Amino acid sequence: MPFHLPAIRRQFPILSRQIDGHPLIYLDNAATAQKPEAVLEAMDRFYRHSNGNAHRGMHVLAEEATIAFEDARNAVARFIGARRPEEIIFTKSCTEAINLVARSFGESLKSGDAIALSILEHHSNVVPWLQLKERDGIEILWLDCDAEGRLHPEELRHILDRGRVKLLSITAQSNVLGIRPPLAEMIALAHAAGMLVMVDAAQAIAHGHIDVRALDCDFLAFSGHKLYGPTGIGVLYGKQKLLEAMPPFLGGGMMIHEVHRDHFTAADIPAKFEAGTQPIAEAVGLHAAINWFTQFDWNDIVNHEQELLTHAASALNDIPGLHVLGPLSIRHLPLAIRHSASGCLSFTIDGVHPHDLTEILGRKGICLRAGHHCTQPLHKRLGIAASTRLSVGIYNTKEEIDATVEAIGEIVSHFTR
Ligand code: ALA
Repeated sequence: MPFHLPAIRRQFPILSRQIDGHPLIYLDNAATAQKPEAVLEAMDRFYRHSNGNAHRGMHVLAEEATIAFEDARNAVARFIGARRPEEIIFTKSCTEAINLVARSFGESLKSGDAIALSILEHHSNVVPWLQLKERDGIEILWLDCDAEGRLHPEELRHILDRGRVKLLSITAQSNVLGIRPPLAEMIALAHAAGMLVMVDAAQAIAHGHIDVRALDCDFLAFSGHKLYGPTGIGVLYGKQKLLEAMPPFLGGGMMIHEVHRDHFTAADIPAKFEAGTQPIAEAVGLHAAINWFTQFDWNDIVNHEQELLTHAASALNDIPGLHVLGPLSIRHLPLAIRHSASGCLSFTIDGVHPHDLTEILGRKGICLRAGHHCTQPLHKRLGIAASTRLSVGIYNTKEEIDATVEAIGEIVSHFTR
């Protein structure tokens, strides 16, 4: 499908909304992306026409719901290049998928074993491991970043030398700096040292092609809502052998083989990890989002978003007192290095609190996120308490970036005059 921005925008009803007479400018895609008609229609059609419970009945509606749910699993497996649909576990969020690995794979860890995390991680990829640390005495080893927030494989080598590291859990794209770590290299290093790798692809999933087989990661998690699909659905990919060896995470209906008064046996994957009624309509919505999104060529999406980000960075860098964080802060970096970040950029402004800035922008219909973005260790490492984040999606335009930068410039001169 040709990449025609006006036609893409027309497919998102919310983009025609006005806020207090201002056109909506939505640049908070790292928090959640907007939904195209195709997703809204698919979920509406499912509830109006086929609503039943999946894997729990012989009647027509149960049958249709089961087929729709499993079709969605197949679509996710194809989208990320999994070997088999059984390697795809539906969860309610990316966070739940990471918790599943921490709790279930975590059962095999003993006091003194270590987990490696990067300083870029979202709290969703920190707190589940800290919970293991509190409960079982698991050690957490941190990979530091350089001044621009980039991670280097040598850091991982140092950590590996310290031994007993069982798993590296790492983001594929920072939700603050947009940095994409050199994952393939790090995964190869980790595997050579006998360590597994979990990838948090919550942000990366909508901004660059991910192929779990090419990457050779052991686990990968993402959510539907940042991929133009609904909230309430997440995905855990895991290599079949690993998932088969892991104990169930949640207990309940359909995750069992047999239940007796004094014990139960677990179902095979993926059911073993899908206790209770599943997010069926959300799976249908995610399937529609994948179908919609994959009409476009990855190169077109990536080039469009890179143009938006580099345009935003260079315009923001001109505002006095504004400091773009990460690689986009450096004007004359070669393009290749700039391209090690995607999806978003964050910044601070001398004398202007991010919450004040985004509140005022919000009244003008401009949506950005402010705060620590659930990355307090990273903000501490950068020596700041909070930042403002601008995050782009497939439907954003250069005009929206210009209007946002102009509004920020006006607010800054008001605060600093
Ligand atoms: N993790 C999402 C964000 O960074 C919610 O905004």
